Amino acid sequence: MTSDQAGVPRDEPKAGVDLALWRRLWSFTRPFSREKRRLVLFAMGTALFDTALPWVTKAVVDDLTTAGASLPLGRYAALYAFLTLGLASCVMGFINSGGALRTGVSFEIRRAGFRNLQDLSFSFFDRRPVGWLMARMTSDCERLTNILAWGLLDLVWGFSVMSSVTVVMFLVDWRLALTLLSVVPALAWVSRYFQRKILSSSRVVRKINSKITAAYNEGISGVRTTKVFVRESGNADEFSRLTLDMRGASVRNALQSAVYLPLVLVLASLASGLVLGVGGSRVLAGAIPLGTLVMFLAFCHLFFDPIQELARLFAEMQMAQASAERVLGLIEEQPAIADSASVRANIANQTASARPADIAVDGGAAEIGVIRFEGVSFTYDGGQEVLRDFDLEVHAGETLALVGPTGGGKSTILSLLCRFYEPTSGRITLDGVDYTDRSLAWLQSQLGIVLQTPQLFSGSIAENIRYGDLEASDEDLHAAARLVGAEQFILGLDEGYATQVGEGGGKLSTGEKQLLSFARAWLKSPAILIMDEATSSIDTETERHIQAGLAQVLTGRTSFVIAHRLSTIRSADRILVIKDGRITESGKHKELLDLGGHYHELYTSQSLRETGQQPGAWDE
Ligand SMILES: Nc1ncnc2c1ncn2[C@@H]1O[C@H](COP(=O)(O)OP(=O)(O)OP(=O)(O)O)[C@@H](O)[C@H]1O
Ligand SMILES: [Mg+2]
Repeated sequence: MTSDQAGVPRDEPKAGVDLALWRRLWSFTRPFSREKRRLVLFAMGTALFDTALPWVTKAVVDDLTTAGASLPLGRYAALYAFLTLGLASCVMGFINSGGALRTGVSFEIRRAGFRNLQDLSFSFFDRRPVGWLMARMTSDCERLTNILAWGLLDLVWGFSVMSSVTVVMFLVDWRLALTLLSVVPALAWVSRYFQRKILSSSRVVRKINSKITAAYNEGISGVRTTKVFVRESGNADEFSRLTLDMRGASVRNALQSAVYLPLVLVLASLASGLVLGVGGSRVLAGAIPLGTLVMFLAFCHLFFDPIQELARLFAEMQMAQASAERVLGLIEEQPAIADSASVRANIANQTASARPADIAVDGGAAEIGVIRFEGVSFTYDGGQEVLRDFDLEVHAGETLALVGPTGGGKSTILSLLCRFYEPTSGRITLDGVDYTDRSLAWLQSQLGIVLQTPQLFSGSIAENIRYGDLEASDEDLHAAARLVGAEQFILGLDEGYATQVGEGGGKLSTGEKQLLSFARAWLKSPAILIMDEATSSIDTETERHIQAGLAQVLTGRTSFVIAHRLSTIRSADRILVIKDGRITESGKHKELLDLGGHYHELYTSQSLRETGQQPGAWDE
């Protein structure tokens, strides 16, 4: 299988239908056995009524030629009405149950996908762009469920029609049956060949189309940059190349359809012609009645419809196999970081018996004392080593600040601490116990995290703060907002705490989002507080306001603070300068200044001196 740059399988038609793959997808229809049963019954019913109608026509024609005027017209009219009504009800039934099956399966697949995506580790998301994941769970999922539900219908209906027609044909006249069937292999081959061609060229059209959409999007949203760099004509050239490609692919696609459909018509006419020739001479010879010939002519069309449908279905299944693999891959992917078997066993043992307050869910100590990085090395996904043989010991209640040049590895150290990633070698211990021997959920429940790009969720401001502690009262919530200095801006909004923040907090400024995520972390009252550039977008005035609250938050709490602004960290218990994944300097503010190294350089650089010289609440 070929891959694009994201390491993602491309949508190439594979030889043959991969039954094992479709069986795995089929398992998602398990909760819908009632819908499936109904769909199968209605499809078979439709096929039977489809076959019965020409048979009745035959009876009418035969009666006409023999009985003449004494034909029981009323009886036949009633029979026709009954068959038509039956057919209509079956069609209604299968559309209804097919729709129910399709939406149900789609729901199941999306739910399974969403649930698994929530569990997967960060390293998984590093390798896959969000847009790619969204496309899997929306358009791929839609396509697969359509194939599953309507494919079942096509299969059952197609095979029922073909077998009932075949049975009736052989019952009535085997010679004519063989005449009609002689065209089937050619039709099957033509249909299969062209369906694959048509599907693969429409895939090219779709692909170019999405490129065009992206080009429109970039062209419109980036129009300012384009103008500034005078790239209008270059962009227009690129765009017209895309549209030319689109025209070529669309014309190819149209041409294939233009050849296929007439070919099918020709073959169907050939079958009708053969049946007319052979059947006509048999009617003349008095071997069969006229009605039989009429019935066979109707069967010609009835027989060819399912062949076309089934060819389309198999081609679609082959084309969609790459989608199926991707969707199943997402649903079945195991998180790289999860509780080990022994931890799961410990958790199971714990919940069975009453647990003292100082014991956590996994049977270990409930509180975290000393945290140690012991010879930790780390690479992201086999790339360059970001940390090498890194040692660090942090005691309970200590406030540790990390500073250093961009890309030095500060955020990586905190990600390892949160167990978003695990060390490639070496270990991280909590009071001497390797943290991979503790429950992941328990560890993360001990952490309060405030990031540079804070993640809020759609909902109100109050809901977003309460995310930290769902049980918190309104008073606690307001106190948290006040403490971090967020209350002023919240009360300034039209609806105060009830204001909707929009998707991802889009209606708020970055600084406001940081304040809210501060309040959220504070409300959680975590044992360990982790702040990565948490105040980078907050103005110095507001930041000073936060300092007082922060001092309260940090006392007695183990904290890790990354900040470029020195005012946030000068009173930390220990400051580490991290450079190329190593600690190059370590000590208190004053000690590091006296050292005259990187920290001193940072401090004396313009922006830092400005903020550093303003006396903040943290100043000694
Ligand atoms: N998800 C990732 N996948 C691959 N490489 C990464 C990933 N995140 C960070 N890196 C790389 O790891 C190195 C350390 O990055 P890290 O984010 O820890 O630096 P930092 O000290 O926090 O920098 P900054 O001050 O800019 O936030 C960088 O070279 C970066 O390119
Ligand atoms: Mg960082």
